[in-house]
Amino acid sequence: MDRLKSKIEKYWNWRSSSYALDIEKSPETEKAWDTTIKTLAKSGQNQDALDIGTGPGQLAFYLAGAGFNVTGVDISSQMIASAQKKAEEMQLGIDFRTGDAEKLDFEDNSFDVIVSRNLIWTLPNPDLALKEWYRVLKPGGRIIVSDGFWSNQTWRRFYEIPINMIKSVFQMKSRISLRFFLHYASMMKHLPLYEGVNKNEVQNLLQHAGFNEVLSWDIGQYFRTNPYEFDMSIRPTFFIVYADK
Ligand SMILES: C[S@@+](CC[C@H](N)C(=O)[O-])C[C@H]1O[C@@H](n2cnc3c(N)ncnc32)[C@H](O)[C@@H]1O
Repeated sequence: MDRLKSKIEKYWNWRSSSYALDIEKSPETEKAWDTTIKTLAKSGQNQDALDIGTGPGQLAFYLAGAGFNVTGVDISSQMIASAQKKAEEMQLGIDFRTGDAEKLDFEDNSFDVIVSRNLIWTLPNPDLALKEWYRVLKPGGRIIVSDGFWSNQTWRRFYEIPINMIKSVFQMKSRISLRFFLHYASMMKHLPLYEGVNKNEVQNLLQHAGFNEVLSWDIGQYFRTNPYEFDMSIRPTFFIVYADK
């Protein structure tokens, strides 16, 4: 693994113990994601699904609940360990394994469905990654990608650093954002979508990878509140796009 990827892995290994607490913050959010993933993935029995950048495995769990044979891949061994532990508790047989989203260890045409949430922004080569995902998807298979414009801190917002340092003494959230910034500061120039990614960019990347018609999921219909609890008035929202091979 190259140095950049090792650094990314290191951050997410550290983050693995707290990250699961930050997702699916309410039963309503969980239901909205579950319904969205199951509806978009269509049928599940005897079909193979892959969750790329699975983290603590949440999307993999939804897919397993829909009857898919699920594989979850993540660069962070500790994220994978946490996903495996939860799968055992839930008695779900999911194949969680470490791997790189930009160089997948699967044959061509292996999966009926591929999902990926909040991974693209931290990839050094998102265009290569999407071509790789296209490669491992079966003809007729579906890809579902979600991400957003996260306003990640950059040196342009350096004035927030001392504020965060003071806050971090008291608040876990600020401690995470400070550590996040300090860890990613030397890498951000290598991550073309680090500051955030919008729907059109991902639709273009998917088309470039070979997908023809890339559709957008109407999140307003399913998500009554923003699942990330950002202030919608100052932060643009997240998106979900999907396409068939
Ligand atoms: C923001 S988290 C999202 C986790 C999960 N998809 C979710 O939505 O809950 C990003 C995840 O991508 C993983 N990741 C980062 N770079 C990766 C790469 N090159 N290949 C595979 N996973 C990667 C991280 O380890 C982390 O678990």
